[in-house]
Amino acid sequence: MTQMRQWLLNGHPRGRGLVADDFKLVTRDIPAPGPGEMLLKTQYLGFDPAQKGWMENVADYVAPMAIGDVMRGSGVFEVVESNGGKHPVGTMLAGSLGWSEYAVSTGEGLNVAEPGLPATAMLSILGTTGVTAWCGLFKVGQPIAGDTVVVSGAAGATGSIVGQLAKIAGCRVIGIAGGADKCAWLTANAGYDHAIDYKAGPIKQQLKELTPDGIDVIYDNVGGKILNDMLSFIATGARVTICGGISRYETGTMPAGPENYFNLVFRRATMRGFIVLDWASEFPIIRKRMVKMINEGKLTYQEDIQHGFENAPDTLQRLFSGANRGKQLLKL
Ligand SMILES: NC(=O)c1ccc[n+]([C@@H]2O[C@H](COP(=O)([O-])OP(=O)(O)OC[C@H]3O[C@@H](n4cnc5c(N)ncnc54)[C@H](OP(=O)(O)O)[C@@H]3O)[C@@H](O)[C@H]2O)c1
Repeated sequence: MTQMRQWLLNGHPRGRGLVADDFKLVTRDIPAPGPGEMLLKTQYLGFDPAQKGWMENVADYVAPMAIGDVMRGSGVFEVVESNGGKHPVGTMLAGSLGWSEYAVSTGEGLNVAEPGLPATAMLSILGTTGVTAWCGLFKVGQPIAGDTVVVSGAAGATGSIVGQLAKIAGCRVIGIAGGADKCAWLTANAGYDHAIDYKAGPIKQQLKELTPDGIDVIYDNVGGKILNDMLSFIATGARVTICGGISRYETGTMPAGPENYFNLVFRRATMRGFIVLDWASEFPIIRKRMVKMINEGKLTYQEDIQHGFENAPDTLQRLFSGANRGKQLLKL
């Protein structure tokens, strides 16, 4: 085989949802590894809501993307050829090399897959997703045992890990997700004490009943009305962690700020956003601690695996339609 496929950026989806024309599939020659390089075969791709922001060039913490660039994204790769490269043939590596069936790399910026766990864990619980859940919860939310923690986007990749970590920290955990199925899964499998289905109607009354002493930590992945409703019930000294705002990623105009922000004053609360990359130097130690929790059976993770490189754009779209449960991946 001498040729490979790549997905290129073909449109900036600003102020709207993704469309098929935002991506272009091309065929190119498989590159040959130069001295010190390896040829990597992509086995899995990982999907993040942030990819839409990268396509739009609204995120200033990453380099801008130009039309014609290989679509940016994470993956798991197998070394299939080495020209004096860093790792032997057969090594599984993870990192961000884009939507390409093959890539050439020196190995810089790539991590060797954790032995004893499926290589996909490097994209889910041990990837950006897991460390985001950890850093957002522990460094920003700072829960203490006995706290009530409420998580939006709870059945997603990040949210489903946040809930378990908060339980391990001794908290009472309430998740907000779309649909009865996802909510049942949250309490049966993802460690949540209670789940609220925001697609079944207004959530304020349920939130009020479930948080009689107020919410100590909000972990928000969604923003908009859900954040506003959560802010209504914060306890004194609450920490409001802004991880993401997926409800606004497809809208053209910025929604007005939360009407309830003044509750931060009455409740002497803090609201803080974060970019997980700021703690990159700590990722190896955080991963180690999570591996221990996984091996002890304290932490589980859910992966949603789609198939076929040609389905990469549709797989990204699943994050915005809420089709994914747990970390969205694609097997090539
Ligand atoms: N700050 C950081 O450094 C950082 C790092 C990584 C990720 N993030 C953010 O963390 C959040 C979660 O990311 P993830 O990778 O774990 O994705 P995810 O939660 O697995 O996937 C997205 C989920 O969001 C929900 N959703 C989609 N559109 C929605 C809408 N309009 N209103 C309410 N919910 C909606 C859907 O669940 P339902 O079916 O429940 O609606 C969907 O399954 C994202 O906002 C992402 O941008 C931040």
